[in-house]
Amino acid sequence: MSATHGRRQVPRFGHGSRVPGWDDAVDLTKDPAVIPDPATTPVPAELRAEIEAAMAKYPERRSAAIPALHAAQRLHGWCSPEAIDQVATVMELTPAYLTSVASFYDMLELTPRPEHHDVYVCTNISCSLLGADEVFDAMVQAAGGAEDLHVRSFECLGACDIAPMASVDGEYVGPLTPGDAEQIVADLRDGRPVLEAKQLRFRRCVDPGVEAQGNDFGPPPPGAPRADTAGRPPETDDAGGPPEAGPFPGDN
Ligand code: FES
Repeated sequence: MSATHGRRQVPRFGHGSRVPGWDDAVDLTKDPAVIPDPATTPVPAELRAEIEAAMAKYPERRSAAIPALHAAQRLHGWCSPEAIDQVATVMELTPAYLTSVASFYDMLELTPRPEHHDVYVCTNISCSLLGADEVFDAMVQAAGGAEDLHVRSFECLGACDIAPMASVDGEYVGPLTPGDAEQIVADLRDGRPVLEAKQLRFRRCVDPGVEAQGNDFGPPPPGAPRADTAGRPPETDDAGGPPEAGPFPGDN
């Protein structure tokens, strides 16, 4: 029997991983980065408010870098130099620090891209053992090469309990079967919530044997309050302000 015991060969990039990786070297010819001057770096009011609300959720303002960059990307379409400067101004960080964060995370774009939907199918170990490769293949097939559907495999998305799973424009859905792929595409095309009955946000618990109905999941009744990604309810959105912090290495 072959080394793979008849299992499907896992496709990999030349460097051994299933994901493209990061190959851009740092540009050492650039001037040292400094915190942008607020007087010369205007920041749209709604972006400033969103970044400040994110900073208010953490004892350390740098912890808000990812949601802040996400907010800037939503507004600008990508993490452009202008977008990063705006985040840096509000957070009082250097653009270099934020660029290093943005370049680490695949969901933050450092080059402009046409409007698209992101479908990240997790093919890491837990998902792979439960059929993620077949789900990924079905997803690629369902997308049919459409340019506005960005389907790719992804390393562990941290939701192994709903394996095999995918992140569709940031919405976690699972456990998936290959048969869900067509529905995901149809939901995206029609502007509906994607696979609403399989969204992680509505799942109460995955542990077997918990209290009755505890492991049922499905959409909540209309108007049910939703927690944000930090697990905080909406009424705590403006609780406190960004803490005084620093100085930190790189601030000077
Ligand atoms: S292995 Fe897929 S979410 Fe962890």
